[in-house]
Amino acid sequence: MVRVGVVGASGYTGGELLRILSIHPEVEVTIATSREFAGRPVSFVHVNLRRYYSNLKFTNVSIDELTSKCDLVFINTPTGVSQRITPKLLESGLKIVDLSPDFRLKNPRDYEVWYGVKHEAVDLLSKAAYGLPEIHREEIKNTDLVACPGCNATASILALTPLVESNIIDLEHIVVDVKVGSSEAGRKPNLGSHHPERANVMRPYSVEGHRHAAEIIQELSYFSKEKINVIFVPHAVGAVRGALATCHTWLTSQNIDDNTLRRIYAKRYSGEPFVRIVGEGLFKYPDPVNVIGSNYADVKAIVHQGSGVVSFCAIDNLVKGAAGQAIQCMNIMLGIDEKKGIDTPPLRPI
Ligand SMILES: NC(=O)c1ccc[n+]([C@@H]2O[C@H](COP(=O)([O-])OP(=O)(O)OC[C@H]3O[C@@H](n4cnc5c(N)ncnc54)[C@H](OP(=O)(O)O)[C@@H]3O)[C@@H](O)[C@H]2O)c1
Repeated sequence: MVRVGVVGASGYTGGELLRILSIHPEVEVTIATSREFAGRPVSFVHVNLRRYYSNLKFTNVSIDELTSKCDLVFINTPTGVSQRITPKLLESGLKIVDLSPDFRLKNPRDYEVWYGVKHEAVDLLSKAAYGLPEIHREEIKNTDLVACPGCNATASILALTPLVESNIIDLEHIVVDVKVGSSEAGRKPNLGSHHPERANVMRPYSVEGHRHAAEIIQELSYFSKEKINVIFVPHAVGAVRGALATCHTWLTSQNIDDNTLRRIYAKRYSGEPFVRIVGEGLFKYPDPVNVIGSNYADVKAIVHQGSGVVSFCAIDNLVKGAAGQAIQCMNIMLGIDEKKGIDTPPLRPI
């Protein structure tokens, strides 16, 4: 059994990790941290996990305890926390899967630009693998530090990768619109995110520059030497779970039709256990309601009026956008079957 710690276990991604790991046959969760709920049983906060983890209580973060009781640690804390504890945990020989943004960007200056802080563990940035298996599977296999993508970034990158990689779109004009449910903002409510303010909204936010744009550009640039320009605008919507990326781009190649795009997407994602190409049927386009509770990403692209392309990706922000993808990365790092513990069908209806 692999001994796993969850730092920041009382939040939404931490709770989702605990839920999914509770049925993972090769993992035992030995530590779940929360400063606010230290000493309380895990099911005090995560009431859905009653009967699971009957002996597990939240504890404060202790490097010594994590080192002695864990082989791998998931980190689910706000920006800035992981870069202070990860170096110590790595030095002690642990593997880290970080769901926070702390190690996603390769260029240290980008942290000052996008997060307004100087990075405190610059040396580790080049060592971290970006935790999107569909692009970085080999690096994930060979690292001790995985930086999982943001949920909006996961959906946007998966929607766009086949188009960028096959070099058929204008890379300087990409517009990405993401609608995302309220759980993406974490468990602690603020003025904009507590229920009376957030329920029923369709609200654009961070239009002047959302942090996930940096990840999207970094990762898409991986496939092209040309400059990539992305206008990325997330929208808060009234759902609790789910993220839908709708990406608008323009063709640079002639003779591309819907069938060509379908073949490009099918080829790019053939063999990917968690990416499904949406065809015809009741739902012709990806919709988060069809992936909720699962690690699936549903994708599709269509030609728009001859010269445009619209591509989509729908995910559950807490699963493929966070905990499920983190476990997929853990499986890859540990040489376990990549699908183990996360190969479950979506809920429907939700
Ligand atoms: N929600 C999503 O859809 C999503 C998707 C992908 C990635 N992420 C990223 O994952 C991380 C966690 O997100 P979340 O939605 O789970 O947030 P959350 O619900 O607010 O949970 C945050 C967790 O971190 C702990 N924490 C906060 N400050 C801490 C500190 N200084 N030291 C130690 N623990 C601390 C909290 O517990 P205590 O305060 O009790 O210690 C809590 O358990 C964030 O970086 C977020 O950007 C979120």
